[in-house]
Amino acid sequence: MPTTTTAGSTVPGPPAGPTAGEPLVRVRGLVKEFDGTTALAGVDLDVARGELLVLLGLSGSGKSTLLRCLNGLHRPTSGEVEVAGTRVDRASSRELRRLRTDVGFVFQQFNLVGRLTCLENVLVGGLGRVRGPRYGIATYPRRMREEALAHIERVGLADQAYQRADTLSGGQQQRVAIARTLMQRPQLVLADEPVASLDPENAGAVMDLFVRVCAEEGLTVVCTLHQVDLALGWADRLVGLRHGEKVLDRPAAGLTKDEAMAIYRRVAPGTPAEPVAVGASA
Ligand SMILES: Nc1ncnc2c1ncn2[C@@H]1O[C@H](COP(=O)(O)OP(=O)(O)O)[C@@H](O)[C@H]1O
Ligand SMILES: [Mg+2]
Repeated sequence: MPTTTTAGSTVPGPPAGPTAGEPLVRVRGLVKEFDGTTALAGVDLDVARGELLVLLGLSGSGKSTLLRCLNGLHRPTSGEVEVAGTRVDRASSRELRRLRTDVGFVFQQFNLVGRLTCLENVLVGGLGRVRGPRYGIATYPRRMREEALAHIERVGLADQAYQRADTLSGGQQQRVAIARTLMQRPQLVLADEPVASLDPENAGAVMDLFVRVCAEEGLTVVCTLHQVDLALGWADRLVGLRHGEKVLDRPAAGLTKDEAMAIYRRVAPGTPAEPVAVGASA
């Protein structure tokens, strides 16, 4: 198991506390329904610039839906979503394209192009900054190639830069995906269960790297996790969802594991609360 830290974050954090001005993410009364299913039932959320927020909740509680509403992959049924000054909930497709260059997304399944090298995969993160499609490393400006190589080095894969992505381990592939996100120069990084398909040891190491580089870049991060231990160790703030409602919103410092785990207890009217194993699927 990864290191348990119940006494709050010990990771060198982004600039302390909310910085001057508006939060980077502002969500009000967010409702998302999928024919008959209410995935989000009126969520309010502010995320300050430089903050690392972890979303916890059982499978089906609405975590992925919330992330997808933040970058416009889902259009809310009602409510307001504002990211970096853009009203995502009513953005035109042109505004959404621009917003998505500002918002990086790290997926559970890495989403690399397996037959391309690490370097080419990382360069893809910079596509928003060049005109037209690119085929092959040589067609990118040299400055971008150097930047991509620097990111690859930063995630510890300098020796694998010219290796095909599908020859790498899961942990290495997620490092490439992190480098690709850095290459994008986003303001906000959304990460959906970024370490869920890695073994515990790799999960800890990759999460550590992810948190460190995001902090170094002063990025704002909203990350879903199943592992309460990881969340308590790295997050500035924890938000818990249950059945599409926010049931916890607290700074990670000072929060005990028991308090965080409470969001995993099923609440059925008339029955005593029953603890559910972390990571269990609903
Ligand atoms: N594209 C979709 N179509 C229909 N139902 C969906 C869709 N996406 C999510 N849901 C439903 O919305 C609820 C929340 O799902 P999700 O956001 O994926 O939860 P989590 O990420 O916390 O596991 C679930 O009941 C799920 O079945
Ligand atoms: Mg999910």
